[in-house]
Amino acid sequence: MIGATTLKEEDLSATIIDGKAFAANLRGKIAQQVERLKADHGLTPGLAVVLVGETPASQVYVRSKGKQTVEAGMQSFEHKMPASTSQAELLQKVDELNNDPAVHGILVQLPLPDQIDEQAIINAIDPAKDVDGFHVINAGRLMTGGKGEAAPLVPCTPLGCLMLLKDHLGSLSGKTAVVVGRSNIVGKPMGQLLLAESCTVTTAHSRTQDLPAVCRGADILVAAVGRPEMIRGDWIKPGATVIDVGINRVEGEPGPDGKPKGKLVGDVATQEAMEVAGAITPVPGGVGPMTIACLLANTVTAACRQAGVSVPEV
Ligand code: GUN
Repeated sequence: MIGATTLKEEDLSATIIDGKAFAANLRGKIAQQVERLKADHGLTPGLAVVLVGETPASQVYVRSKGKQTVEAGMQSFEHKMPASTSQAELLQKVDELNNDPAVHGILVQLPLPDQIDEQAIINAIDPAKDVDGFHVINAGRLMTGGKGEAAPLVPCTPLGCLMLLKDHLGSLSGKTAVVVGRSNIVGKPMGQLLLAESCTVTTAHSRTQDLPAVCRGADILVAAVGRPEMIRGDWIKPGATVIDVGINRVEGEPGPDGKPKGKLVGDVATQEAMEVAGAITPVPGGVGPMTIACLLANTVTAACRQAGVSVPEV
């Protein structure tokens, strides 16, 4: 049936991993933690998000981050700067936020305009407030397995993927994991997180030879390439758990007005994959909602560490 355009219900066997529901539950727990922090320690975690320019997708993300931060009972600080902002001006903003005691987490929305060196900005953020986990200190701590005081803040999207995997599979120890994509935001930290769970990890990418064969070896397949439906059903090992990080906007079927409607697809051809995989995250409603929920969790963690209190149990 692979490649068929219409599929019957009974052909689809994979379990759908409901990231939307998992994220809603996580946000509920975070809201309870925030309530306890306020009541017991007079601590209200604060998250500052900086948006440079007016990229529509970034504006949407930043709006949702602000809304969900407030819904969790935290303080949200939004800083919008023009697309013409210089590196020095943005560094000054970061410095101001580093020194603001009401701000426990700082996120500078990426990508940044061409005149700004992204790494220079990321590495100017106080590592204790780096809720994206992109600072070299946090990346290094993740790689070297830092614990306790030296525990990293972990990038939100791979952290969300790991939570879904552990919830679905329990122990990941000994499993073969293939991560397709090597970005600093998802692919590289995802590989490190899976390695820390004792998976045997391959990080594949655009130059990997015979990528379908590499993917077919995976018990756990994480797709983070940003190419619509690149990973086909026959690239997947029967019974594998597939995590689709892609959020790609493509032209869909024509609407009533005859014009094609935009729709979101992942990096995996979901319908095909569902015939082979054991479980898969949908797009939308899989990994996407987990990213902001993990950002809120990182903000609580950062606030607690800065205030010298432990993260409350709920
Ligand atoms: N742009 C796309 N994903 C992210 C993310 O996780 N953090 C930041 N800061 N920018 C992004």
